[in-house]
Amino acid sequence: MNILILGSGGREHSLAWAVMQNPKCDKLIVAPGNAGMEEIAECAEIDINDGGVVVSFAEENAVDFVIVGPEAPLAEGVADRLREAGISVFGPSEAAARLEASKSFTKEICDAAQAPTAAYGHFTDLASARAYVEDQGAPIVIKADGLAAGKGVIVAMDLQTALDALDDMFGGAFGGAGAEVVIEEFMEGEEASFFVLCDGEEALPIGTAQDHKRVGEGDTGLNTGGMGAYSPAPVLTDEIARRTMDEIVHPTLKEMAKRGTPYQGVLYVGLMIKDGAPRLVEYNVRFGDPECQVLMMRLGAQALDLMQAAAEGRLAEASVNWGDDHAMTVVMAAEGYPGGYEKGSVIKGLDNCPEDSMNMVFHAGTTRKDGKTVATGGRVLNVTARGASLQEARDRVYAIVEQIDWPEGFCRRDIGWRAL
Ligand code: AMP
Ligand code: GLY
Repeated sequence: MNILILGSGGREHSLAWAVMQNPKCDKLIVAPGNAGMEEIAECAEIDINDGGVVVSFAEENAVDFVIVGPEAPLAEGVADRLREAGISVFGPSEAAARLEASKSFTKEICDAAQAPTAAYGHFTDLASARAYVEDQGAPIVIKADGLAAGKGVIVAMDLQTALDALDDMFGGAFGGAGAEVVIEEFMEGEEASFFVLCDGEEALPIGTAQDHKRVGEGDTGLNTGGMGAYSPAPVLTDEIARRTMDEIVHPTLKEMAKRGTPYQGVLYVGLMIKDGAPRLVEYNVRFGDPECQVLMMRLGAQALDLMQAAAEGRLAEASVNWGDDHAMTVVMAAEGYPGGYEKGSVIKGLDNCPEDSMNMVFHAGTTRKDGKTVATGGRVLNVTARGASLQEARDRVYAIVEQIDWPEGFCRRDIGWRAL
């Protein structure tokens, strides 16, 4: 089989790494890819948000199966164009991708599905949004309705912060994404992510994870795309997983199918857990980054079979072969991230790092220049390892971090603290 993966981050490197191990994979192409993926696949520089371009490229290269990594191509309907052209693809339609692309749409689906989530109001003008916030009081959560690259959510602990956030959003701080605002009840509890493959009807859980969104140790400082993750998440017990499937995932899939927009792909279910009960924080229509890296480290080659089963409507007959293992990934980022950072610093020591079924350094933002590996992004490397316990996985990860010679980079030293 010829396989095409769309994306260029650590998430896509881990997908490529897992897919490559499956004997079904004859040829792997990644677009656009990065320096890490170049070592295991062919990289192609194409516009992955343009459905026409992706279809032509897939046809020219006799691609049998496409895996879409990030949300942007999904929101642009790239999966629809591929399906129309008769090419098998893992990822939801543009209509189903609204579960991530529009917060108010997700709330509407939760209402119809009676899925537990925060109480909310949906506003298109500043005056009524301000009045609602003043009436509800703080803490309160203000969300730009559309995709805002993870920056459209303000958790306001006091009223003034909430009102300022509304002024910013209606003032155009998030462009079109902020022209509509969802205002939510502040939920307390512990957050965890649950990953479920869906084929339009059936759903198959493939793992749990916890991410660390703040840049600083002890979960302090600015929000980031994620500084590290581990799987499984102990807080997401079997009982909570079962309730999440019964109360949130299945009712959502039923509602999406009823509307004529069945959901196919991976559903990233962001949960707030309190007193043994899960409530939905958000859906994403793709794997998390860096959560995908720990899931792929644990699933290995079977990830391809499972994604294919989802794409072909065969999940009812699929099952996950679980090891009783743990995985952790630590993000190495460029000094300054998530604020301004320099690009172009050289990373050394990667050749000495182990690369096997227990240890991998996934690349997130790198390129090859004059034979050297150069940092090109904020989040640059994802040092990932597996072990019989989380502690063992963690020891392996930080031993690899020590091997990497990159003075311009940093990482959090406390990934996994909640679970250890
Ligand atoms: P989202 O993009 O919707 O996941 O929001 C980003 C982050 O904001 C989440 O991971 C939570 O930490 C926080 N958050 C979002 N909604 C709520 C809520 N209703 N109550 C408490 N925290 C929230
Ligand atoms: N790590 C959070 C996300 O991928 O949305």
